[in-house]
Amino acid sequence: MSATIIDGKSIAAATQLEIKSRVTALTKRGIHPGLAVILVGDNPASHVYVSNKVKACGTVGMHSVLEQYPADLTESALLARIESLNHDADIHGILVQLPLPPHINEHAVLEAISPDKDVDGFHLINAGALMTGQPRLRACTPYGVMKMLEYNQTPIRGAHAVIVGASNIVGKPMAMMLLQAGATVTLCNSKTRDLAHHTRQADIVIAAVGRAKMITGDMIQAGATVIDVGINRDDNGKLCGDVDFDSVAQVAGAISPVPGGVGPMTITMLLMNTLEAAEKL
Ligand code: GUN
Repeated sequence: MSATIIDGKSIAAATQLEIKSRVTALTKRGIHPGLAVILVGDNPASHVYVSNKVKACGTVGMHSVLEQYPADLTESALLARIESLNHDADIHGILVQLPLPPHINEHAVLEAISPDKDVDGFHLINAGALMTGQPRLRACTPYGVMKMLEYNQTPIRGAHAVIVGASNIVGKPMAMMLLQAGATVTLCNSKTRDLAHHTRQADIVIAAVGRAKMITGDMIQAGATVIDVGINRDDNGKLCGDVDFDSVAQVAGAISPVPGGVGPMTITMLLMNTLEAAEKL
């Protein structure tokens, strides 16, 4: 193996230290950053995610509340709760865990969150602000990837970045952040013809497709930086990314592992967004 490992865990720890000291400074000024996390229903994976988010708030000295509702909560009741949190002076960030039960209109819920408290960065105002080069609150996962590239000192200006996966949560905001930082961006999707033709030209590859180990060493240019956003299970039930780590690590210059790569950064950037929302007051 020749690639440098981009250690998301240690970058997350360093970033959380910075967040913690900014939280302390803000608290001294009388503003104690607070996050409200709303979970509707009993999706087991969502339970784990939200408890990790709430736990992370404690690590950096932030206030958090976890509100859990049964799966039959009505959409209007959820919208009313969000409206009340929008006006709650102790809450600077609101996160509604997805997926929501099918009877609730996800789009309506995300748009009901005040853009100033939208710590997921999913609101149309925040997506549009990023698109037009005036970022406000940014989607956590691509924001975390940008931090990882920064820590790794990966040159971005003038580099060719190829993103595999065009989701609203990762691929599209990732493209905008890299573009803003001066990269030439290729955004691939599930219909892209000859994917390897594109990835082989990349200085930076971001894999965010949700298919286990689909990016292999033969698809990567020697020395490229490869960031793996995927979280999948392989045939043996073991956690793995979208990148075939063993073959890609032979050719890449730097690579992020799964687990221990992007995952810890996503939660960290949620904390960063909550802090930034509180600092704007
Ligand atoms: N479900 C899976 N990932 C996410 C996320 O980043 N934010 C929210 N709100 N729900 C999710």
